[in-house]
Amino acid sequence: MGHQRAFGRSKETALIAITKMKPRIGVLTSGGDCPGLNAVLRGVVLAAEKLGWEVIGFRDGFEGLLRPGDHVVLDRNSTEGIMALGGTIIGTTNRGHFVAKVGAGDRTIIPAEVITQGREILNKLDIKSLIIVGGDGSMATALQLQEAGIDCIGVPKTIDNDLEATAMTFGFDSAVAAVVDALDRLHTTATSHKRVMVVEVMGRHAGWIALHGGIAGGADIVLIPEIPFDYDMITATIKARDAAGNLGSLVVVAEGAKPKDGQQVMRESKDGEFRLGGIGDIVATEIAKRTGKETRSCVLGHLQRGGAPTTLDRILATRFGVKAVQLANEKHFGSMVSYQNYQVRHVPIAEAVNRLRLVPPNGEMVQTARDVEISFGD
Ligand code: F6P
Repeated sequence: MGHQRAFGRSKETALIAITKMKPRIGVLTSGGDCPGLNAVLRGVVLAAEKLGWEVIGFRDGFEGLLRPGDHVVLDRNSTEGIMALGGTIIGTTNRGHFVAKVGAGDRTIIPAEVITQGREILNKLDIKSLIIVGGDGSMATALQLQEAGIDCIGVPKTIDNDLEATAMTFGFDSAVAAVVDALDRLHTTATSHKRVMVVEVMGRHAGWIALHGGIAGGADIVLIPEIPFDYDMITATIKARDAAGNLGSLVVVAEGAKPKDGQQVMRESKDGEFRLGGIGDIVATEIAKRTGKETRSCVLGHLQRGGAPTTLDRILATRFGVKAVQLANEKHFGSMVSYQNYQVRHVPIAEAVNRLRLVPPNGEMVQTARDVEISFGD
């Protein structure tokens, strides 16, 4: 059809019509990886190709915007079969020149020359708009780019599921599945040895992974940042279980959990950054001291972030990728894909950043957990 139409015109017009570049859209994945990122990329590519667009993927998050040639054409061939893969085929980073968020609530301004450099690369490639797949920090960067005149669409991602602007992010279900798998395994060894097994899970300042994982994995005690715990209560719960003949116990501790009147546990890394982690060991030592029971601790760490996405995450990620292209097509720039009431919608990025969704301590999920005899150590 395209050729027939072109032949009806002058030779020159026909040549332009044939060689005319397809409209291009850029995409990058930024921040910590999570299962489902590749499913988003595949969704973006297939939806964009349907519109006759070409997709350019920048490598290693925003850093790819600064390195000439550090991009790749993503098409149906290069994204074939990637939906089931964990991680992201175009790489990511949670540090670098574009970091707009340095801690909970802290922000930095991206230097103007960095934005200019990124814009030049986009202009050279004739890329009209950019899909940014990332968490809260990446959305803060997206907002600054949008304010600087670079058209952006945000796609939220985080295993922590802690963004207020979307009821769910892909990656969360896969992370919870990893926790549940670990708890199922630890359950048998805890009961065989009549031990207490303490499992530290991720989630930053939110207890969603610990809460959902704890309920689905049959934990006895779940410690989350939103409900500071008391060692006396944890001890009482374990002793009561022992008295009832339940000699093995499972304790899930969110990395951000803290005792009443205590602090979150952080470790300083070589690069001077502070990361949550270490509370599991402390809780295990204290339980052993107070109950006299053999206690072991286990940190799940990045096992929760790797591996294939669950079915739910593949579907959500695909819907998010397709929606991002629709939003770009409708020129809803400066907006972020959002899941609300079982529908994929959008919200302004400006309204989405820096609004964390924490576990309501008196909410239905916590009450459900209490009703199935999970103690929060409070
Ligand atoms: O935000 C996702 C997350 O996995 C957190 O749950 C965790 O605290 C953090 O990232 C770990 O980051 P990194 O991969 O840099 O160690």
